[in-house]
Amino acid sequence: MRVLQLTDLHIFCEPGKTLHNIPTRESMLDVVEHLRGQQFDHVIVTGDHTHDEMPASYRAVRDALAPWMSCLAQVPGNHDDRAILREVFADRVSGTAHEPVRFSIDHDGWLLVGLDTHLPGEVSGVFDEEQGNWLEEVLSQSQCHSIAVFLHHPPCDVGSPWMDAIGLSGRDELQSVLTEDGRAKLICCGHVHHEFQLQLAGIPVYTTPSTGIQFHPDSDSPRFDEVAPGYRIIELHDDGFQTEVVRLPEVKYVPVRDSL
Ligand SMILES: [Fe+2]
Repeated sequence: MRVLQLTDLHIFCEPGKTLHNIPTRESMLDVVEHLRGQQFDHVIVTGDHTHDEMPASYRAVRDALAPWMSCLAQVPGNHDDRAILREVFADRVSGTAHEPVRFSIDHDGWLLVGLDTHLPGEVSGVFDEEQGNWLEEVLSQSQCHSIAVFLHHPPCDVGSPWMDAIGLSGRDELQSVLTEDGRAKLICCGHVHHEFQLQLAGIPVYTTPSTGIQFHPDSDSPRFDEVAPGYRIIELHDDGFQTEVVRLPEVKYVPVRDSL
């Protein structure tokens, strides 16, 4: 099974608008062009679809991802509006209005689970009791041999103080549910706009570059990085998985040296 993870698109409704000098829509389209013709069993967006949370921005994301609409799954980030996301992707996202946007997909022995860590009005995220109850229920109903978890906020520190200050609360609860079940093989996240490889109680945790602006991985304060945008490819097998980040071959847009 071949899975594509895209994350942190940060699209504006104005087509040419930039985020610290990065035209996020153009950058997203460059990533999509780089992927053109590739087939995936699932394409998963792990949040921050837009920067302005406007309907037109979500529609631009939908247009760009049209080749994979039939296999698209999504969770929100801090820069998302559940109701608008749900309205624009009505055929992909179940539930109503501001209910959590999450998914569970049983496929070839794997369970792909998407968690909603969005906390309205906050940059940080949360895994709360309701989410824990939902996850326990989903896991209890699956006969899968392995689980891949997708969420916006990494459930562990990445070692960059300013990023860790806007991290996930309730991570101990998530760890508890996953370790009790014992089938989770990997966790894939966004939010930190850079590739990190971490662990949560022995479960590999991967973060993935943004399709737009990149954060510097080693800074005490917000700082942007002059590296190309990218995405993550995940191959899930009967006996394990492989994953890699792919960045575009050139740095087309350079961010301003600025704080967030
Ligand atoms: Fe983001």
